[in-house]
Amino acid sequence: MVSDALQKARDYEERLGAFIEDAQRPVFHYSARVGWLNDPNGFSLYKGEYHLFHQYHPYSNQWGPMHWGHAVSKDLLHWEYLPAALAPDQGYDRSGCFSGSAIALEDGRQLLLYTGVREEAKEDGTKRSCQTQCIAVGDGVNYEKYAQNPVIDGRDVPQGFSKSDFRDPKLFRNPDGSFGCVVGCRTEDESGAILYYRSEDGFSWRYRGILDRSYNEYGRMWECPDLFPLDGEDILLTSPQDMSPVGLEFHNGNGTLCLIGDWDEEKAAFTRRRVQAVDYGIDFYAPQTLLTEDGRRIMIAWMQNWDTCTSYPSEAKWFGQMTLPRELRLRDGRLLQNPVRELEALHGRRIAYESVPVSAETVLQGIYGRVIDMTVRVRPQSPGSYELFRLKFARGSHHFSSLSYRPGSSMLHISRKMSGFNRDFVHDRRCLVRDRGGEIKLRLVLDRFSAEVFVNDGEQALTMTFYTPLTADGISFEAHGNALLDVEKYEIIG
Ligand code: FRU
Repeated sequence: MVSDALQKARDYEERLGAFIEDAQRPVFHYSARVGWLNDPNGFSLYKGEYHLFHQYHPYSNQWGPMHWGHAVSKDLLHWEYLPAALAPDQGYDRSGCFSGSAIALEDGRQLLLYTGVREEAKEDGTKRSCQTQCIAVGDGVNYEKYAQNPVIDGRDVPQGFSKSDFRDPKLFRNPDGSFGCVVGCRTEDESGAILYYRSEDGFSWRYRGILDRSYNEYGRMWECPDLFPLDGEDILLTSPQDMSPVGLEFHNGNGTLCLIGDWDEEKAAFTRRRVQAVDYGIDFYAPQTLLTEDGRRIMIAWMQNWDTCTSYPSEAKWFGQMTLPRELRLRDGRLLQNPVRELEALHGRRIAYESVPVSAETVLQGIYGRVIDMTVRVRPQSPGSYELFRLKFARGSHHFSSLSYRPGSSMLHISRKMSGFNRDFVHDRRCLVRDRGGEIKLRLVLDRFSAEVFVNDGEQALTMTFYTPLTADGISFEAHGNALLDVEKYEIIG
């Protein structure tokens, strides 16, 4: 049965969504049908189609009582909007249907597990949030909330852990056929942790253990966990709030961590071996992954974070986009990310140059655009022959964004300072890349209002949004010293 609150949201998005022209949206990145979008939810394969749900407030371009928006795709790049899937319409989710995930059941139905949020009055008259895990089951379009909700509540939280910061269940199947889920939580030391729950049928859940925790080293609340095997190791992703920078790592405050180690389901234990940041740009948070039928682990994230989500044109009728879905691998112990290979099917006209000498600012005929997939290889003309290489994009008479590489320090810098924002938000990020004797390979994917950069075949990714007028579509190259350049650019046809 569709509740009044859900029907109202569905009518609203149907009516208002029609007024947003395609020309105002990204071409191949998912964007909110109308209103506000944050975390991806329920990113999964169901009956041969990819499903993407997300945190959604259709009624304004600001965060509000959370609904779940919904879309499906056959190639992870063209998304068809479906009606909103969930609205806050029950006592246990009155204040919002927060993040969660989806899985196919044996009987063909799709199960959604999400965080129901309600406010609870404290003895002193103030209020606190009460977060529990709830189920809705459906056919891929319509979902019925489970009569026994919530299925995981405060009684299933270990002693000393928060019942107010207890959210974002991510479901998976264990090799023995049982269901597992990881949930973000806050501990008595006020920092984050990930809890593990197990179920035989997907409906009745048992707490099994603490997988990992921050001990105040990697931020406070750990949001939006995900757990999966990858190339012989296990990966636990989480998005901590309020991380402190270490060197050039973890500068975003709200960023995403990749914990690499071993997961033992029987002991409900995760042994952490290494930690790395997932994205070195400005706008990336709360990723979720799925496994494709051909065995690829694909990650998609909200292309913002809580500190950057006020930086957009205020007149926009929609706000919030997802990153490109990215294929994940592990190589030399580090997470590699590259755009899904499906992107190649959208490649249009190709223009390529080889071994172009660059020093003063140079433009190359045919190399421009705001909807492109471009790979640039830079190398010194002779050992040590350049100190700085700079690539400007979304370049017009007043604006540009840029990538700059200094081989001496192996430092890569992304900047949107001159992109047209007239606010003092964060506009710059730097990261260290692997030293390859002055060579660097940069794949830059632009989609009108965003740039995603994949360095040296995915060893690092840097993501940012910007709202420079679309007429600013120039690209230029320059070097201090003498560099050589190969460029291959494809237009992308939506
Ligand atoms: C992460 C998050 C989640 C929560 C959701 C609310 O961005 O804070 O922890 O479920 O957003 O919209």
